[in-house]
Amino acid sequence: MIRTRVIATAASVPEQVITNADLAKIVDTSDEWITQRTGIRERHISAGENTSVLVINVAKQLLERAAVKAEDIDLIIVASVTQDYGTPSLACMIQKEIGAVNAVAFDVVAACSGFMFALSTADKFIKSGAYGNALVIGGETLSKIVDWTDRATCVLFGDGAGGAYVEKSEEAGMEWENIGSAGEKYEILTEGYTNCANAFNDNPASVDPLWYVNMNGREVFKFATKKVTGSLKKLMEEKHLKHEDVKYFIPHQANIRIVEVIAKKLGIPFEKFYMNIDRLGNTSSASIPMALNELNEQGLLERGDKIVLAGFGGGMTWGTMLIVW
Ligand code: COA
Repeated sequence: MIRTRVIATAASVPEQVITNADLAKIVDTSDEWITQRTGIRERHISAGENTSVLVINVAKQLLERAAVKAEDIDLIIVASVTQDYGTPSLACMIQKEIGAVNAVAFDVVAACSGFMFALSTADKFIKSGAYGNALVIGGETLSKIVDWTDRATCVLFGDGAGGAYVEKSEEAGMEWENIGSAGEKYEILTEGYTNCANAFNDNPASVDPLWYVNMNGREVFKFATKKVTGSLKKLMEEKHLKHEDVKYFIPHQANIRIVEVIAKKLGIPFEKFYMNIDRLGNTSSASIPMALNELNEQGLLERGDKIVLAGFGGGMTWGTMLIVW
């Protein structure tokens, strides 16, 4: 049976670090409010580099770490809601930059669940037998779509990219997944709306306020805790897993309180959830692969470890996956 294994991970962030105190200089907020309500202390914010710079950096590291040649890459899948262009995709920009001339390259949009959807897609392409490997990357410069005068949203997000090189294997790898969408709720979290203005209608061509991240924080909070709890419960039941069998749960890093609620509801010790939101904020599709990479770089993952990734976000969408390292 064909399986998909993670072979290498990588991450990249802009150098510039913005603390809560820095934000308090531009909007009416405080370190105390942000830390208590979200767990975020600082985040990396682009000093001008666009998303392509970050994802290309990740792709180059993945090639080196996996010791594969660019021309041997079969697939490049990038998850993002902050692409440089409408077209080309970020994946095609990576393809050009690294010289992956034989790859099929495309982007997917599933907001903060994006990496999970991209990984799931790569897994299916590989399991079909037609493709042997993939670069799967999540990357964002959310700073360009945040309204920096809105304290309710601008304190939450950060920029960054993370990814994995995955390949076909006969050993254990991606073992179980549950991805899903609840489009009926899409209005509770949106960004990037553009007006349909053209030469034959009267719509104003100006940037619509809905260009910026717009959300009902409380509804998103409710959605996340309900869906992730349900999805993790399904995993534990179907795979007959106890939390003791899992080395790490890697949740999307949106708010530490969301993870505390999920941990409590499931009776899983909070310490089993790997968190780095204090240093990175919410980086949307990049948060799960960046956390996975941190664990990997610190040597905290051993062959055979069971790891659970759990994403949720705009769409609304969610995605949970069990990986055997
Ligand atoms: N600094 C200081 N005060 C702030 C603030 C800030 N940055 N942002 C909001 N406030 C104020 C509000 O104006 C409100 O004031 P009021 O009571 O006088 O009206 C008060 O704080 C409480 O706001 P509320 O929105 O009820 O806070 P909350 O406890 O729900 O926390 C979020 C807000 C956004 C942190 C929280 O709802 C959340 O994390 N939701 C999930 C969002 C998310 O994860 N999005 C991405 C999903 S991928």
